[in-house]
Amino acid sequence: MENNEERHIYPVSDRMLSRRDKEELLHQRGLMVWFTGLSGSGKSTVAIALERELHRRGILCRILDGDNIRCGINNNLGFSEADRVENIRRIAEVSKLFVDTGIVTLAAFISPSNDIREMAARIIGKDDFLEVYVSTPLEECERRDVKGLYAKARRGEIKNFTGISAPFEAPLHPALTLDTSVLGVEESVSRLLALILPKIQLKQL
Ligand code: ADX
Repeated sequence: MENNEERHIYPVSDRMLSRRDKEELLHQRGLMVWFTGLSGSGKSTVAIALERELHRRGILCRILDGDNIRCGINNNLGFSEADRVENIRRIAEVSKLFVDTGIVTLAAFISPSNDIREMAARIIGKDDFLEVYVSTPLEECERRDVKGLYAKARRGEIKNFTGISAPFEAPLHPALTLDTSVLGVEESVSRLLALILPKIQLKQL
């Protein structure tokens, strides 16, 4: 890749207000909470419940999930390996802007490999990145089959379906693991709050 000077791109970020300015305005620290897990594992459900609890405590959040990303900015991407990488790359770049604005950003995507999640962490910055593994077993996700996609994948009507005909690698060192087949949403949210609240408190300089 050519450098910015060769591409005639001159960053203006040194004249913009800083992340710290935004965090002071919001009285919170920006943070990325990255949910990974199979389709139907409960990533979005838990993220939505967490957002409500944080919002109730006066914390500004933004959820990114399939609904607002794969139907919008990423509506030209499918489920090949390359498209999944590009999906997560764009999501990470967008998330970085939110985190840089002091917003607690919740992403709920399968993000099926360690490489893909490491890329996201690298783009966003490891210090701001909290990986949450929603570890609900495949059998339970398939039993729920909320969208009817597992049945289609089993019939061979959907190719490269994660867990059936495409791989999912469990994270190696997640900050938290939540199996929604044994934990209720409330319990998952309270474990998340215990982890997150201390990290988003703005420390006085
Ligand atoms: S990711 O692998 O690129 O991170 P993402 O989370 O954006 O996936 O999208 C997953 C959602 O897309 C699933 O919950 C499901 O509703 C739908 N989907 C459609 N085709 C597939 C497929 N081949 N594999 C996995 N999910 C699919």
